[in-house]
Amino acid sequence: MRRTPLLFLAVCILAACGNNHQPTATTDSIPNREWWKEAVVYQLYPRSFKDGDGDGVGDLKGILSKLDYLKSLGIDVVWLNPIYSSPNDDNGYDISDYRNIMKEFGTMEDFDRLLKEMHQRNIKLVMDLVVNHSSDEHSWFKQSRSSRNNPFRNYYHWWNAERGKPTPRWSFFDVNSDAWKYDSLTNSYYLHYFSRKQPDLNWENPQVRQEVYNIMKFWLDKGIDGFRMDAFQFVAKDTTWPAFPPGYDRNIIKYYGMGPHLHEYLQEMNREVASKYKMMTVAEGAGSTLQDAMDLVDPDRHELNMAYHFEGMDVGHFDPNYSLPEFKNVYSKWDSAFAQKGWVSIFLGNHDQPRMVSHWGNDSPAFRELSSKMLTTFIMTMRGTPYYYNGDELGMVNIKFSTIGDYRDIATINSYQHLKATGGDTAAFLQANKRSSRDNGRTPFQWDSSANAGFTTGTPWLKINPDYTTVNAAAEENDPNSVLNYFRKVVKLRKENLVLVYGGYTVLDRDNPDVYAYTRELNGRQLLVLLNFKGKIAAVKTGADLSHAKILLGNYPDPSTDGNLKPYEAVIYALE
Ligand code: GLC
Repeated sequence: MRRTPLLFLAVCILAACGNNHQPTATTDSIPNREWWKEAVVYQLYPRSFKDGDGDGVGDLKGILSKLDYLKSLGIDVVWLNPIYSSPNDDNGYDISDYRNIMKEFGTMEDFDRLLKEMHQRNIKLVMDLVVNHSSDEHSWFKQSRSSRNNPFRNYYHWWNAERGKPTPRWSFFDVNSDAWKYDSLTNSYYLHYFSRKQPDLNWENPQVRQEVYNIMKFWLDKGIDGFRMDAFQFVAKDTTWPAFPPGYDRNIIKYYGMGPHLHEYLQEMNREVASKYKMMTVAEGAGSTLQDAMDLVDPDRHELNMAYHFEGMDVGHFDPNYSLPEFKNVYSKWDSAFAQKGWVSIFLGNHDQPRMVSHWGNDSPAFRELSSKMLTTFIMTMRGTPYYYNGDELGMVNIKFSTIGDYRDIATINSYQHLKATGGDTAAFLQANKRSSRDNGRTPFQWDSSANAGFTTGTPWLKINPDYTTVNAAAEENDPNSVLNYFRKVVKLRKENLVLVYGGYTVLDRDNPDVYAYTRELNGRQLLVLLNFKGKIAAVKTGADLSHAKILLGNYPDPSTDGNLKPYEAVIYALE
């Protein structure tokens, strides 16, 4: 952090700020530049984005009708959640045919057109690769299940029941939390870390791995730009099935993650597929330690480009009064571990999380917009590739369902059933899920104030947040100070200032319980970011003379210049 007198005083008028910054002068001297580091990724949840045919479910035609909106955001890459054929036990994460499109979402012609039209707009497309498990309705599993001698038997993990019960394994979505399901057809158990309809593939079988590489090539040959690798840290298992200590299920990543041979599989995948295409790879999950994560993304190891960790997600998951210093420590620790090599992603929301503003901001009418903008500023000013979840650019909030009947997510429904069957406190469960359930982040996108938020002419598959009459894209489009237009400005600012992509990160006033302050610095250019995470005025000590700093962007019309930040204020200054 530079404390010398600052060169000039220039507090610009906010409206002009987005256009008034200087690109980093010496971009040639930035080592290891990559398109996927400089990209802003927008995550699109197809089921809830836009329904093009009136059946209440979002689809590819719906997305096609909104490509100009995507372009207007200034994003570079769309990560599309699974669109493959699926019986939808887990909203497309249970795939029955990896080379076909889910009926509700459209056809392969729709897909080909979507990809072409995205590329025409210079938007890249990254797809989900879900290969820890398939659907039980995949032909591989149907074959595998049919007899112990079937050639596909070894595509999955089976345990012959005459050996007794297999060593217990906990399941994320099973109503009994049991990952072994007995199948009388062959008197055997099969493994499913997720639901019973998501049997785990056996990665020790080289044929399974070849199948996966061929699937990847099928989509890459169509021209897609990369894969987000679902639950990938779980694919490798110790198939001697050792017993885990009691309570292991509270630390599942440690016991399920980064199993034997995972790195060999990734290196093989890199050799056979990734190295042959211009593509990006990002893994969901990053193991249990910083070293695990580094091993996945260290460029010298030729595995993946980046990973995303969940440690940030855990802060405040159940507690609105979470500790900001803890939040800062998580992100500072992860930044410093990858400061010299490797790369991570930055995100605050996705389809498995509640809405970011309800989680870390304040979704009351008074502060929803300000705190959404503040959190967006965080994502777009940290080192790492930003992954931004659709709807957060509108400041969409948790729907907070009161009854179990409103939920559609297998995770919530089956946990509730389990609790009910075991005499647990279902009322407390429902209360907690208003904060944490995944369906909070999956309600349909709010396009306008017409019926069903302009999402569908039919009956939406999941209820729409009733606040759509005021929180919607059309209304925000017309308001220069909306969350949506702020998102566009901050994306543009990031794209035009490589210091925000590659610059060194230094946290300031680390123990400050209210304000997150940090600098980003590259080749002598230094930006300062101040974020007030609280709904009250908060002071921060940065050591910089802010009255002389140039304000690049802020979420108030009169940004603070004295270190006293207004509620949920966010400001980006250039210290030149
Ligand atoms: C990942 C997905 C999640 C899914 C699970 C099983 O965590 O993000 O939505 O339920 O994998 O595929």
